[in-house]
Amino acid sequence: MSPDKKPTSLRPPVRKAVIPVAGFGTRFLPATKATPKEMFPLVDKPLTQYVVEEAVACGIEEIVFVTGQAKRAIEDHFDRNIELEYLLDNKGKKRELEQVMELAEKADFVYVRQKEMLGLGHAILQARHLIGDEPFLVMTPDDVFSDNSGSNGRPAAQTLIDAYEKVGTPIIGVQEVPKDRVHLYGIVSGEPVGDGLLKMTGIIEKPDQKDAPTNLAQCGRYLFVPEIFEHFAQAKPGKSGEIHITEGIKGLISNQTVHAAMIPNLYHDAGSKLGYLQAIVEFALARDDLGEEFETYLRKRLKNA
Ligand code: UTP
Repeated sequence: MSPDKKPTSLRPPVRKAVIPVAGFGTRFLPATKATPKEMFPLVDKPLTQYVVEEAVACGIEEIVFVTGQAKRAIEDHFDRNIELEYLLDNKGKKRELEQVMELAEKADFVYVRQKEMLGLGHAILQARHLIGDEPFLVMTPDDVFSDNSGSNGRPAAQTLIDAYEKVGTPIIGVQEVPKDRVHLYGIVSGEPVGDGLLKMTGIIEKPDQKDAPTNLAQCGRYLFVPEIFEHFAQAKPGKSGEIHITEGIKGLISNQTVHAAMIPNLYHDAGSKLGYLQAIVEFALARDDLGEEFETYLRKRLKNA
């Protein structure tokens, strides 16, 4: 029986997520010299916390962070801080105390180092021994999703899990991007098969506009099977010396059926300065405690511009 014909009940559940956070974040230098980009806040929560909360909301129990130099702040964020808890308790700051205490309880956190920053594919490969023989999510924290009418409050990665439960293949999350921006993304091609799914025929890393087969871009959410690791291990580094995630996906496509799934949530490329600013505006406007005042400010500011 081919993997995509298995009855849903026989598919192993998706319990683990890999979150690579080892990159240098050069587009945000000098801010990223000593501070991880993945800890940049959207209002008052770091990017990494949003992605962890998204994973947990999708039923993920174990999170593997692939870390590197100058990323200690991420480990500290998801650990207990007894002195801070003591201080908040003494000051009667109950809500803040709960917020900091629950961070360490969100999931089982495991850390593995990427010793050389050789690209996203190489970063994911470092988690191989921790994943074993299970399907798993890969989520990059600088790809951020917010709700819109299409997403109906569902976390972005849930779209991938739902699709996997239906078709039983690896799933690549995609979003439509403007045609003049395809050169910034991995662009997928394939045949539509209904339910917002595409049976993939290819993927191309950052193509020129004239060479792009579609405007469907991978957007930092992937559901992989363990076979992907061998493709990363065999992949040749690109011109930049990095092993791109697209190389592993190409290998998978050559051996088995892979689908792309349209993620309905609003997407923000917070790894770029403009995308990061847009994400801050979206998240601030959505806040019960800030949204109204912030919108008034923005309207006034734009009127006077
Ligand atoms: P990016 O390509 O956006 O991150 O990787 P970067 O390389 O840190 O940023 P720029 O392009 O230099 O500004 C997406 C995610 O993959 C991780 C990053 O930490 C980020 O969370 N990553 C990237 C790794 O873990 N290892 C790598 O070798 C590259």
